[in-house]
Amino acid sequence: MKPVIAANWKMNLTLTEVKELLHEISDAIRTSNDVSVMICPSNNYLLPVQQFCMDQGLNVMICAQNISEYQPGAYTGDVSANMVKSCGATHVLLGHSERRHVFNETNDMLKTKLSYCKDTGLIPVLCVGETLTDREQDKTESVIKQQLSILSGFDGEFMVAYEPVWAIGTGKTATPEMAQAVHEFIRNECPEECVVLYGGSVKKANVEGLLQQSDINGALIGGASLVAEEFSGIVSLSNQMAVKKGV
Ligand code: PGA
Repeated sequence: MKPVIAANWKMNLTLTEVKELLHEISDAIRTSNDVSVMICPSNNYLLPVQQFCMDQGLNVMICAQNISEYQPGAYTGDVSANMVKSCGATHVLLGHSERRHVFNETNDMLKTKLSYCKDTGLIPVLCVGETLTDREQDKTESVIKQQLSILSGFDGEFMVAYEPVWAIGTGKTATPEMAQAVHEFIRNECPEECVVLYGGSVKKANVEGLLQQSDINGALIGGASLVAEEFSGIVSLSNQMAVKKGV
C-alpha cells in the first residue's frame, strides 16, 4: 500500500496563495510516484486545485474538508456532498476534531454525513482522536472505539485519520510508539485494507519515525502543509522510504 500524504489546508490561503503553493509543491509531487498525495482545500478551491492538477498532469486525490449534514435545499451557506463531488472531490474529511469541538459535530451528525458519502460515492476520511483528559483518564481506546462505531454498517471504502486532539496544531506529536499503539487498535477495529493516517504536528523532522510504524499508512498534515518546503520535504522523504521498502 502506498503511503498517503494529505495536506489539510484548513481555513487558510487566498486563491493567489493556493496557486503559488501548488506551483511550489508540484515538483515534489511529480517526482514521488511511490506516495499518494491528497489535498484538502476549502470548498471554494476544489475546482481550481482540480484544474491545476489536471493541467500539470499531477496525480492528486482531492478531499473536501466537510459536507453539510443536510440534503440539497434551502440551507443558505451550506455545501452538500454532491456539490463537492461535482467540483472534483473524491474524498471528504469527516469529524475532524475542529468540527467536533468548535462546531459541536456529534456522532449522529456524522452518521448522516456518512450516508451522503454512500449516496454520492465520496470516500470518507473519518478523523478520530482523544483529548488530553481522555488520555490521562486512560479512555483513549474507548473514545476511539465509540468514534469508529458509526462506521458499522458502512460497506463502502473509507480511511481513518488518528489525530490526538492534544497534538493538533500544538507542536506536540505523539511519539511513534504512542501513535503505533493506537493505530494497531484502530487496525483491529477496521478492515485490513483500510488506510489509517496519523495527524497532529507532523513535519519533515518527525515524519520518518511515524511512517516506520507498521500500522501507520500515511499522514494528515495541517500547519506544515502550508509551507511549501516542509510539505515537499515530507512528500519526498515518504517517497524515499516507500521506494526503500518496495511498496
Ligand atoms: P497540524 O494539524 O498538523 O497543524 O497539527 C493536523 C490536522 O488538524 O489535520
